[in-house]
Amino acid sequence: MPNTAILEVDGKRYEFPIIEGSENERGIDISNLRKETGLITLDNGYMNTGSCLSAITYLDGEKGILRYRGIPIEELAEHSNFLETSYLLIYGELPTKKQSEDFRTNLTRHTMIHEDMKRFYDGFPRDAHPMAILSSAVNTLSTFYQEEESQPHGRKLTYSILRLLGKLPTIAAFSYKKSIGQPFVYPTNSLTYSANFLKMMFGVPAEEYEVNPAAEHALRLLFMLHADHEQNCSTSTVRLVGSAGTNLYAAISAGIAALWGHLHGGANQRVVEMLKRIQAEGGDGEKFLERVKNREEGVRLMGFGHRVYKNFDPRATIIKKACDNLLSKMGISDPLLDIAMKLEEAALKDDYFVERKLYPNVDFYSGIIYRAIGIPLNMFTVMFAIGRLPGWIAQFKEMVDSPDTKIGRPRQVYTGPVHRHYVPLAERG
Ligand code: CMC
Repeated sequence: MPNTAILEVDGKRYEFPIIEGSENERGIDISNLRKETGLITLDNGYMNTGSCLSAITYLDGEKGILRYRGIPIEELAEHSNFLETSYLLIYGELPTKKQSEDFRTNLTRHTMIHEDMKRFYDGFPRDAHPMAILSSAVNTLSTFYQEEESQPHGRKLTYSILRLLGKLPTIAAFSYKKSIGQPFVYPTNSLTYSANFLKMMFGVPAEEYEVNPAAEHALRLLFMLHADHEQNCSTSTVRLVGSAGTNLYAAISAGIAALWGHLHGGANQRVVEMLKRIQAEGGDGEKFLERVKNREEGVRLMGFGHRVYKNFDPRATIIKKACDNLLSKMGISDPLLDIAMKLEEAALKDDYFVERKLYPNVDFYSGIIYRAIGIPLNMFTVMFAIGRLPGWIAQFKEMVDSPDTKIGRPRQVYTGPVHRHYVPLAERG
């Protein structure tokens, strides 16, 4: 295969190297394009633009493949746990027994938040969206750990990583407790990551809290499935913000803000809102699909479609099975699950969705699991953020560790007015 691409502009030929990844993905390296030709590329939504070399996550959207550091998501879902998967993503290898124990022990040293931060929650309206609180609180961490305020490397980065992984579930659970007026429940370090989170969410100081193992298992699985997804919108945000030299907390805070959007992580909340609306209107999914196809304003089949997956989303396949298991183990029958399954079946047979290669994505069934566990609707995207945190951290670390990193600064093709002169107010009519 040729390892250069030829571009011809105004009768002149230019050669650009083609670089190849470890899974034979090929990309044209245009770093010298502007220097050599005076031209830039234009790529709305970055549909064809690679922004970095990365050794963290491999995704083949045509074949429905997702691997973290080479290991298929299906294997991790079956055998791993969230902290081990986080270690794998951040440090590149599965931890040894000792590394695994040390990672867990060190992380649990950082699960509490500074007591002064609790007052922070009083400043928000009670009905504030928890994603806004999460993003603000994570940014605030840099005011409590000022030694890491500049971009951390080495040991300093290790502390920021542990702090973030340790504290995010606490910050998230406290925001829920605040919204319902219950006392904060402090972390319990002897519990697993997911069990500790469930206890902080649903425990109360007046009673013993027993973690439901089925709920814990389902949550752990969802956290792992969300842990990384290469250069998606929030991850690219973390990298872009971080590329300016900002600290990890500020970059992750920006990533959380990006994830909140309804075309990204916010879709999981929108899916359940959509299913509830269909239920309220009589449960007729086919009628809803007609509205989607007629492109009624604001009507999309939420939880369907993906920028990269054009076959199936392997995470959705695992989640659908886990959803069935969880509901039967917990003895729950959720009418929204029936609506979702009928909707999926109808969409997968419908030409509109088939032609556009639209399949259920990670968000289509995850909300049914969150509902079964008792997670309130406005916390769904927060669950996504807790799961995605190790991926954001791994991508940030890879970026700051790379000697090739430059500040992210796209260009534009200007389409505004050409040179003209200022008109004084009196002469403007
Ligand atoms: N319902 C109806 N039509 C759709 C949908 C959908 N969910 N998704 C894509 N389309 C149509 C779209 O209208 C377009 O049709 P046409 O070419 O006739 O104009 C075509 O499919 C291509 O869509 P696109 O919007 O150009 O594709 P994209 O790669 O820019 O968008 C997406 C990807 C995920 C934003 C989009 O599929 C979508 O809005 N899905 C619903 C929201 C959602 O579930 N988001 C979660 C994504 S997975 C988790 C995550 O990333 O956080």
